Amino acid sequence: MIRVNKIAHATYETPDLDKQTEYYTEILGLMLVAKEKDVVYLASTVDHHSVVLRRGANAQCVSLAFQIPPDADLGEFEKQVAGHGVKTRRKKDPEPSIADAVTFADPKGTTTEVFKRDAFAHQKFQSKGIVPFKLGHVAFHVTDVKKVTKFYCDVLGFRESDWMADFFSFLRCGPDHHTINLMETGSNRHFHTAFELRDWSHMHDACDLLSLHGYKLLWGPGRHGIGHNLFAYHRGPNGLITETFAELDRMNEELGYFEPRPWHRDAPQRPKVWEKDPSASNLWGILPGDEMMN
Ligand SMILES: [Fe+2]
Repeated sequence: MIRVNKIAHATYETPDLDKQTEYYTEILGLMLVAKEKDVVYLASTVDHHSVVLRRGANAQCVSLAFQIPPDADLGEFEKQVAGHGVKTRRKKDPEPSIADAVTFADPKGTTTEVFKRDAFAHQKFQSKGIVPFKLGHVAFHVTDVKKVTKFYCDVLGFRESDWMADFFSFLRCGPDHHTINLMETGSNRHFHTAFELRDWSHMHDACDLLSLHGYKLLWGPGRHGIGHNLFAYHRGPNGLITETFAELDRMNEELGYFEPRPWHRDAPQRPKVWEKDPSASNLWGILPGDEMMN
């Protein structure tokens, strides 16, 4: 099968486009690379854009885009998706830097865009804001975690990295422990969007910068058990949650286990089902408050 192997960007609708754009550029340190009527494109590093903001009535994540390898055939990928009974559309020049894309809806209603990247950004290092490496993962609340997990694995070629009990799956499409995570809670909606930082000192500076601008942490800093990454969560101006993280587990597919970053209790750490235990959420002990689930 043809597998997607990288998240390219996420698209959000947001009521106050200017305020959310300012948050992404001034606080997160992404670069505004293109602007159309009611749409802005924001870049982090190598990709032309990592975040798209569209003016809309409600703050929500409406679309995720993934890349397939340069030698893969987009037409064959479209047939693969249609073979699962999924209605697809082919779009020419749908967005700046993307010549050809296949789009379809996932079972929770998020539009999925798949394309081959043939134009890269040549951004200079940003000197203001947090400046993450990249968009790392997007997490969702879902009504049927097994159904959506199966869709991402069967149709897009994701692999299961870990589960928390039977209600929270962590899926990878490349070496990173998770690119999509899905938590069954009774509704289909965005949970958080995560950006990768360099290390603990970058996390530390990011927390200070957020504090300086009035953004309080919802949860963290801490270290997740599942994925072993350092984390800190806050809410952006439109109410959606942003995570900053570092030291996420990385899979060595040939060996079938995760590289320790920095240490694991299992040796080796293979994909598994974790018990619903506080240490799966935070090895350092502090659990999220109710506000994380709003
Ligand atoms: Fe996360």
